[in-house]
Amino acid sequence: MRVVFLGPPGAGKGTQAKFLQEKCGACQVSTGDILRKAVQDHTPLGKKAAEYLDKGELVPDDVVLDLVAERLRQKDCEKGFILDGFPRTVAQAEGLERILENLGWGLDSVLCLQLPQEVVIRRLSGRRNCRKCGGLYHAAWSPPRRDGVCDQCGGELYQRQDDREETVAARLRVFDAQTAPLAEYYRKKGLLRPINGEGSVEEIRGRVFQALGAKAA
Ligand code: AP5
Repeated sequence: MRVVFLGPPGAGKGTQAKFLQEKCGACQVSTGDILRKAVQDHTPLGKKAAEYLDKGELVPDDVVLDLVAERLRQKDCEKGFILDGFPRTVAQAEGLERILENLGWGLDSVLCLQLPQEVVIRRLSGRRNCRKCGGLYHAAWSPPRRDGVCDQCGGELYQRQDDREETVAARLRVFDAQTAPLAEYYRKKGLLRPINGEGSVEEIRGRVFQALGAKAA
């Protein structure tokens, strides 16, 4: 399986990509997670990326393309991958084509989660992430058993810096201007699978599997 998850911030890309990874063994590649880790570890990449993440802007295409090219060359991606949060511009989509051509691979589908902005804002304002294992929670809809503590590993839960209201507004503007046009790009290539992103995690999971022509159970 070689797929891309497309959709606005907070659409549920990470939630569904994690599930597909567990179910199908393909590797989740989240550029957001890689960049946040680099910022946390103060690597040269992290120092370059931090100012963009803080403002809700996109990290330059060449930086992201280099990190994806390196990630896809790793052994665990041979059995398939789920790209989560990449590509985000037409230049990145064209770059991805070149990377995959070099590896002798092609994309199977582009899963595009569609949902109204007010739902996205509600999801982002309640999101909590685990610092240790990356587990995902929502303060209202999927809270941890103990406040601030991850059910899976006991790690500390935190709210992402870029989930603050003003940064969310910037991220949504960036999505509309730079990422939304990718739906048309992939529609023309016959790869686009639009998915209604409203509803419960399980309902959307079912739609994702239906779009992939597989069974969710
Ligand atoms: P990134 O980390 O990719 O963020 P994003 O695309 O904005 O997406 P999110 O992670 O916010 O949301 P999601 O769709 O994964 O939703 P989730 O499953 O978490 O990027 C962050 C930054 O990094 C960018 O702004 C940019 O600066 C940089 N960057 C990253 N990639 C880049 C690239 N390619 N090029 C340039 N720059 C790049 O769900 C959200 C919440 O909703 C959670 O709490 C979850 O529990 C809950 N939820 C999920 N589904 C449901 C449901 N069905 N019902 C109820 N709650 C739900």
